[in-house]
Amino acid sequence: MSISKASKLEPEVTPVENCRICKNKDITTFLSLGPLPTPNAYISKEDLEKPEPTYPLNVGYCNSCGLVQLTQIVRPDIMFKNYRYVPSASQTMIEHFGRLAKETVKRFNLAPGALVVDIGSSDGTLLKAFRKHKVNVLGIDPATNLAEIANASGIETINNFFSRELAGRIRAERGQAKVITATNVVGHIANLDNFFRGIESLLSVDGVFIAEFPYLVDLLEKTEFDTIYQEHLSYFSVKPLLKLLESFELKISGITRIDVHGGSLRIFVRKGSSGSLPPSVIKLLGLEEERRIYKPEIYRAFTERIEKKRQDLVSLLSQLKHSGKRIVGYGASARGNILLHYFGIDRKFLDYVVDSTPYKQGLYTPGHHIPIFPESKILEDQPDYALLLAWNFVDEILAKQKEYRKRGGRFVLIVPKARIV
Ligand code: TMP
Ligand code: ZN
Repeated sequence: MSISKASKLEPEVTPVENCRICKNKDITTFLSLGPLPTPNAYISKEDLEKPEPTYPLNVGYCNSCGLVQLTQIVRPDIMFKNYRYVPSASQTMIEHFGRLAKETVKRFNLAPGALVVDIGSSDGTLLKAFRKHKVNVLGIDPATNLAEIANASGIETINNFFSRELAGRIRAERGQAKVITATNVVGHIANLDNFFRGIESLLSVDGVFIAEFPYLVDLLEKTEFDTIYQEHLSYFSVKPLLKLLESFELKISGITRIDVHGGSLRIFVRKGSSGSLPPSVIKLLGLEEERRIYKPEIYRAFTERIEKKRQDLVSLLSQLKHSGKRIVGYGASARGNILLHYFGIDRKFLDYVVDSTPYKQGLYTPGHHIPIFPESKILEDQPDYALLLAWNFVDEILAKQKEYRKRGGRFVLIVPKARIV
């Protein structure tokens, strides 16, 4: 039986009984954002009248290891088999991946022909950057539509979820990898044990596993609650990560904070058992203590700030509407869909949303069914305000829309606070 057929026999939503890292049962839910559709489930015009499935979105912290995690999970094939998000829709990400590839080749001395495997390789954007450095690349992605696009553009891509079993097969056929990357993937993984067994098996003895994911400290501090969605099962900080790696022949050799997606970590994982901690890890452990992210009151304050954010933004948009202004959304991002839903910002507020992703244009946002147009519509139509839903790309978007702004168009920013620029 194929993987997708087998998985369809499983329930659509499964409660999380044990912490995914330390297996403790004591997880305290602190925020409920649902039920709501999954945020990448864009809808075609023909399907607008059909019933739209909604799923819970509850998040809690583990009272033992501190991992922040969803307390119910949606079956992965529902979310990832057909996927419309691609990093290549933003120049910021293309450049980010270009630098990541270049720095990795240099720092780890990758010889021509070395194997680089990207897990969650999407349309192959990161691997295209690696290929410029003459290494061998292999992508793995569960989205059939994206794996097809990547393969057609010459990036060999296996259309599957990464697992220990798949790692074994790749190892048998192609040998071990010098570099394995996973950008914005580890948070999506339900079975981290199986995932890291796969990394252990596929990584060569002198290889490096590089992962990037949003950092809990940034998420909390900047009230980036819209990063919380059904696809993201874990919201990592360093302490639980160390606990996770204890069970494997893997250790963190360094961590850097990077500013993508509102503040993320890039971790470097090498083979070997964890001995003394590198300075970058010790520094972040200290930061986490200082910011008290393992204390329950931090989560109460976080939910209060979300409420305040809701009041500020909704009252600002209401005032604009009352004075007859036209508002649109900028960026049909997954996070934007969470925010619109939770704040109740619908078509009464936003005429439409624009987005640079070709696979989203012509569709409608999940839940509120707001139509999605190409970015060019902004200049054709010159609405008064654009609510920046893709706030993680603020610099790129403000620079790109100079002309709209010159003609009097304004942006409403959400992060860190609701304000007009
Ligand atoms: P993300 O928050 O999930 O990364 O999605 C960002 C969305 O914003 C994605 O759908 C692409 C879109 N976008 C634009 O429409 N214009 C832009 O200039 C950039 C950078 C992103
Ligand atoms: Zn735990």
